[in-house]
Amino acid sequence: MTDKTDGPVLVLLGGGGDLSLRMLLPSLYNLDADRLLPGDLRVIAVARHPMEGEAAFAALVHEALTRRAKIDEAVWRRFAARLTYLAADMTTAEGADDLAKAVGGHEQLAIFFAVSPSLFAPICAALGEAGLTGPKTRLVLEKPVGRDLESSRAINAAVASVVSEDQTFRIDHYLGKETVQNLAALRFANVLFEPLWTNQTIDHVQITVAETDGVGDRWPYYDEYGALRDMVQNHMLQLLCLVAMEPPSGFDPDAVRSEKVKVLRSLRPFTAATAEANSVRGQYGAGVVEGRAAKAYAEEVGRATGAETFVALKTQIDNWRWAGVPFFLRTGKRLPERRTTIVIQFKCVPYSIFTGPAQDDLTANRLVIDLQPDEDIELLLMNKRPDMADEGMRLQPLPLSLSLQRSYAGAGGRRRIAYERLLLDVFRGDRTLFVRRDEVEQAWTYVDGVARAWDEAGVKPQPYLAGAWGPDTAQGLIGAGRRWHV
Ligand code: BG6
Repeated sequence: MTDKTDGPVLVLLGGGGDLSLRMLLPSLYNLDADRLLPGDLRVIAVARHPMEGEAAFAALVHEALTRRAKIDEAVWRRFAARLTYLAADMTTAEGADDLAKAVGGHEQLAIFFAVSPSLFAPICAALGEAGLTGPKTRLVLEKPVGRDLESSRAINAAVASVVSEDQTFRIDHYLGKETVQNLAALRFANVLFEPLWTNQTIDHVQITVAETDGVGDRWPYYDEYGALRDMVQNHMLQLLCLVAMEPPSGFDPDAVRSEKVKVLRSLRPFTAATAEANSVRGQYGAGVVEGRAAKAYAEEVGRATGAETFVALKTQIDNWRWAGVPFFLRTGKRLPERRTTIVIQFKCVPYSIFTGPAQDDLTANRLVIDLQPDEDIELLLMNKRPDMADEGMRLQPLPLSLSLQRSYAGAGGRRRIAYERLLLDVFRGDRTLFVRRDEVEQAWTYVDGVARAWDEAGVKPQPYLAGAWGPDTAQGLIGAGRRWHV
């Protein structure tokens, strides 16, 4: 352990949990390897259960790191020297006092809440009592902030009672992904797209976040939330906002976040009358994913349950730019491939000068932005087919492609974990990639409306086979003359 006591301190609440071991500690290790961590940073992992000394925790972290990637033992020694483990119940005054003692003097304190949202409010109160929420403190809240608008407001109020909004960093790890940030660059650093980014030229937008994994051990959390609250309320609405927002006055926290809130406010609410036609809920049954047999969701949970593991929504943004352009959102577990893709489907040319077979060849332009696992941008453009057939000129769509992997390969770029960027921004105090209070509450307002409409209209999850693209009705949702890109 380092003997410095007055430098920056990062506290990981839920320090022995899944998020910490799989994402946060590996991110910190990677930042340390790249010498991007503040030199004297100390990391205190807090969890309720006691460990047999610091060494046992260090061994757990070492194992988690090596499971992920090969590690450099010299970097590990430097990193391990920063780590401390504290067994404490942070909802209690004693726990918070123990933490205050462990933190000691510090020039900056970041406290990361990697625990259940039901603990956010009591922990805030205990931290406040223990004097840990002064002006040098930043609170970092992992999603979900609440389960609905009401619980989200209660958490936000508890946080606001101990620190200011400027000290609050609400995480949506999608915003830390390089490719997601690239959406802003694509739109606002090129002159080409913005004039076309309207209902004059765009027919519809598709946003798909497909996962092959099932829910596994996370079912107690997931079963209470379902795909709508787990993915749509945060990651998918954030992607929608980045595609749909107006150009902000600058790339600074408040300008960007204010534009995103305007989009969220313009989302047309679901009602019982529109719910059935504009959404599909699904739950996976047993099947085969990537060649391997997969259990049904209900079997993982151990009983029949009403949570959806798939959701597709047809959303409308009621503003001048997007009136009449549906945004189709689709996400699910146990789908055939892991893939996050945004598709901007343009309209057809207003009039075809081509006749004969070439007229049938005409396809509308399509911009496909793959965010993961591949990072590619592809613009499908119509071209003449290079032949001299008797039937006259023929056309074909060809991609203009930008492979981000290839472009970055020379720069020695490894793919960063999204949390690396976000943790660095916490240390630097940059809130651009974090979700503001009104943003998270507006997203809940929309999602609560969908959940309420489902309840009132009796929309229940339909079964789909693990390894399929959700229930068959998901194909129908997108409507005649349109099809999902994948
Ligand atoms: C999390 C959800 O926020 O995002 C998970 O709780 C989901 O259910 C995960 O699997 C997906 O993140 P990524 O970065 O793997 O696309």
